[in-house]
Amino acid sequence: MEKHDGRQGRLGVIENAYVAAKDGRILDFGQTLPAGDFLGEEGLIVDANGGVVMPGLVDCHTHLVHAGFRQNEFKMRSEGMSYQEIARLGGGIMSTVRSTRAASLSELIEFSRARADEALSQGTTTMEIKTGYGLDLQNELKMVDAIGEFYENHPLEIVGTFLGAHIVPYEFIDDRMKYLHLVKEEMLPAVAGKKWMTGCDVFVEDLAFRADEAREIAAAARANGLSLHLHVDQFGDVRGAELASELGALSADHLDHTSERGMQKMAKAGVIGVLLPGASFFTGKGSYPDVKKMLSCGMRLAVASDYNPGTTPSLNLMLNASIAVTQMGMTCDDAILGITKNAAAALGLADRGAILKGARADLVVLDAPDEYYPLYRYGLNFVKRVVIDGRSVKVCK
Ligand code: NIG
Ligand code: FE
Repeated sequence: MEKHDGRQGRLGVIENAYVAAKDGRILDFGQTLPAGDFLGEEGLIVDANGGVVMPGLVDCHTHLVHAGFRQNEFKMRSEGMSYQEIARLGGGIMSTVRSTRAASLSELIEFSRARADEALSQGTTTMEIKTGYGLDLQNELKMVDAIGEFYENHPLEIVGTFLGAHIVPYEFIDDRMKYLHLVKEEMLPAVAGKKWMTGCDVFVEDLAFRADEAREIAAAARANGLSLHLHVDQFGDVRGAELASELGALSADHLDHTSERGMQKMAKAGVIGVLLPGASFFTGKGSYPDVKKMLSCGMRLAVASDYNPGTTPSLNLMLNASIAVTQMGMTCDDAILGITKNAAAALGLADRGAILKGARADLVVLDAPDEYYPLYRYGLNFVKRVVIDGRSVKVCK
């Protein structure tokens, strides 16, 4: 993907190749190993055995940290209730807020660590994690601390995003203004002081926040030095793509109901579209975004898991890429680009997601004959080795 501009086209795969790394960075790559004492004293050769070596996967949109699961809601949906109806009855996001508030910091870390390990073993090397299940100062900061624990002590590279504006929690239901004030004046400044918290997100949707409220939060986020991401157009066209373009967001995510006009605006403003195939698949309404139209408008697209206990409890990025291909009309090459280079771009990171000289040596080795095979054999895991920062952090038998 060295020369890829992130829009459409071939990945630039090199057959029978090597990748050399030193001090956590990619030194070189190509078909003929450089001559001489290339390895030095401590050098190590890893044979990929005819498999695939690709950039470590980047999951640019997750809600990894939470307590409790919601398989009861999955059952209710299977019997005909909608996601929005369940939310109105006090389930949905609010149900995870209750379990997350009830958990101690160390419980929250333990519950979430198993999932971080799971993502790593499936080839994810950089993961974005949002807050948004605390929704009061103390519990949002508890989530920030849990994310900080992974940032400091888990092999995954972590990027934290503040999502205090996920929904208005029930105790503020009659005073939205007061909750907005809390988000802007108390939570944001407290969160922005943590070095792993680099972004701010708002859920713009009928059951969450309006566009004018998102504008206010975006201004406060900017004032606190955070980049902006938005959850938009998930259940209907709330003109979220237009809003993200107006606000200069780094990414706009979901986009299941975005209009062509919104797509054009995003392309023009350079806002990266983050597709979340698992969420569209798992909520089961069959409303997938029209990727062909997005690409013809000139949009740059990433693909992420949106892992969360409600709308999509899977961290399998390769599976998400498969769904993007079969249900959204992406090409295999564009889907792979979406979980690597473009996902990194959606986080504002240019040092990963592609095999480039000087980029981070975050790599995965797949026991697969080519890069399309894991998408084709959907749902399975072909990761044999995960390298982060030039070190093997996971070797599977
Ligand atoms: O990205 N859209 C908003 N938030 C999540 C759902 C969170 C939940 O249901 O717990 C999402 O789909
Ligand atoms: Fe989400």
